[in-house]
Amino acid sequence: MIIGGPASQLLASKLAVILNQYLALCDYRIFPDGEVYSRIITELDENVIIIQSTPTDRDIIYLLQLLDICQGKNVSLVIPYYGYSRQDKIFKGGEAVTARALAKAVDHSLSNDSRVYLINVHAPSILNYFSCRAENLDATPLLANAMKSLCLQNPIVISPDKGAMAMAQSAAIYLDAPCDYLQKTRLSDTDILIAPKEADVKSRDVVIFDDIISTGETMASATTMLLNQGANRIFLAAVHPVLIGSALIKLYRSGVSSVLATDTLDKAIGTISVSTLIAQALKQ
Ligand code: R5P
Repeated sequence: MIIGGPASQLLASKLAVILNQYLALCDYRIFPDGEVYSRIITELDENVIIIQSTPTDRDIIYLLQLLDICQGKNVSLVIPYYGYSRQDKIFKGGEAVTARALAKAVDHSLSNDSRVYLINVHAPSILNYFSCRAENLDATPLLANAMKSLCLQNPIVISPDKGAMAMAQSAAIYLDAPCDYLQKTRLSDTDILIAPKEADVKSRDVVIFDDIISTGETMASATTMLLNQGANRIFLAAVHPVLIGSALIKLYRSGVSSVLATDTLDKAIGTISVSTLIAQALKQ
């Protein structure tokens, strides 16, 4: 039985079709004071798959409610977009490692036999915070294959910072293209600085790969710099289209030709589905 949380209803439905499994009927509501309510109306099976991304605090509470309802069942949990993954360590003394706090809260409702699946989680070290087996699924090949169909001319793959270099390198292999990275410094939540770097982009189509697009500042700054260096067209690929506020407009204003993203978050831009990736992992 598949239980789709409110943040992952479409993905849960696609998964149910691929796995030919029953999709539970659920009721999600918000009380006048802002508290949320979850009820699974269908009688639960012994084996359940819960799928719920956690882009907002409210989605975290929904997830904890679903786990609470499924207590005592064999639970496989899929969190396609793991919110707070960028708070994965202490950057300044006195801070919480919120990615760990969330994992602990989730873990509390799982048994040792449970499985947790994340997708391109920003910091893979987060997997260690779960006491049951936790896996990080990689959507890079799905995005790279979709990029292939765009008939790129003399492509080069660029990572906007060192953190996304592994993704970019693996995409470059799929695209049979060279790979490079930029040096990014985050100045504040919304401001970043990309150090000027002469990349070999002249007259080439550039694919910039990253795990998350949030404010769009990273991708927009990289795009502006690479176009100034003579790049032909810029294509963006990201697993998690968080896309805060007018991020998409910012990206297209900077000159990108297209943005490709997956459906770990329920956004229209997420045309590359990770449902097959999740289905494969669950079958194994
Ligand atoms: C951070 O290291 C991530 O990999 C992304 O580069 C970052 O989250 C993008 O954020 P924004 O779109 O706000 O620049």
